[in-house]
Amino acid sequence: MTKEDSSNNLRTPKEFDFTTGDFRRIRSLIYKRAGITLADSKEEMVYSRIARRLRATGYKDFGTYLDRLEGGKMENEWESFTNALTTNLTSFFRESQHFPILAEHARKKRGDGLFTVWCSASSTGEEPYSIAIILCEAFNSLKPPVQIIATDIDTNVLKTAANGVYTSDKVEKMAQDRLKKFFLNGKGKQAGMVRARQELRDLITYRQVNLLENNWPIRGPFDAIFCRNVMIYFDKPTQGKILSRFAPLMKPDGLLFAGHSENFTYVTNDFKLAGKTVYKLSSPSAGASGRPVENTEKSADT
Ligand SMILES: C[S@@+](CC[C@H](N)C(=O)[O-])C[C@H]1O[C@@H](n2cnc3c(N)ncnc32)[C@H](O)[C@@H]1O
Repeated sequence: MTKEDSSNNLRTPKEFDFTTGDFRRIRSLIYKRAGITLADSKEEMVYSRIARRLRATGYKDFGTYLDRLEGGKMENEWESFTNALTTNLTSFFRESQHFPILAEHARKKRGDGLFTVWCSASSTGEEPYSIAIILCEAFNSLKPPVQIIATDIDTNVLKTAANGVYTSDKVEKMAQDRLKKFFLNGKGKQAGMVRARQELRDLITYRQVNLLENNWPIRGPFDAIFCRNVMIYFDKPTQGKILSRFAPLMKPDGLLFAGHSENFTYVTNDFKLAGKTVYKLSSPSAGASGRPVENTEKSADT
């Protein structure tokens, strides 16, 4: 069972007592830690996901577990707590209208050195691999001058992404020639699985990055930033702050790709719409020049 389909029915008798106070406490902790806002309707989902952490750590009630977590008595548990509460739904070539735009942008920049992409909420890897495939096709090479950095707050999904192994149903909608070119079929115990080819995996570097943190270990400048279907979990001030930190990491003509239900127009003056859910810098001079830039909240030079 995946995290995504694990919520219990409201009337299911509960293994652990779970009060609205416990829910609110968890909601406030994950908001502070990851910026994720959880609606009241997520109470059952939260119960089922954190109940698993109680089982794994041996605690018998939510109150004690949360006291220990907040009291700094289980430093490592924060990672599992956070991983448990993220929603990682993704797919290959999701929101497919973005990929021809990316390909076109890359073709225009052929001969300009490395084409750089930051995939900032990469989940289990389907998004960065889709980007890598499109860029191999745009440069007509399995070793294109491309560098993709793929990040997520959730350390479990990053492991899955780096491994690049998927069940065949995940790629069933992919064109056969793409599938043949970019994936290997599993044999024996791996039958029914596919693995992204080494060349594709070599184009992507994975790192844990919490978009809420002040110091991102990220160096621009980027030709494209993908930030899709993660801002929906953040409130508007948080979205605005993140966007203002993306701006100096973009190349002056860089593109920012957003999710289908994410509208940044009323959140930022740094970016303007350049197509459906695609943005570019309002003022290209706000982007990075040719030199590498790191993003920290205090100063782009530190
Ligand atoms: C719904 S998935 C979207 C995946 C992919 N971008 C797509 O559009 O298919 C959202 C991802 O955002 C990640 N996420 C949530 N909060 C985050 C944060 N504060 N910093 C970085 N990633 C975060 C989650 O772990 C999850 O993998």
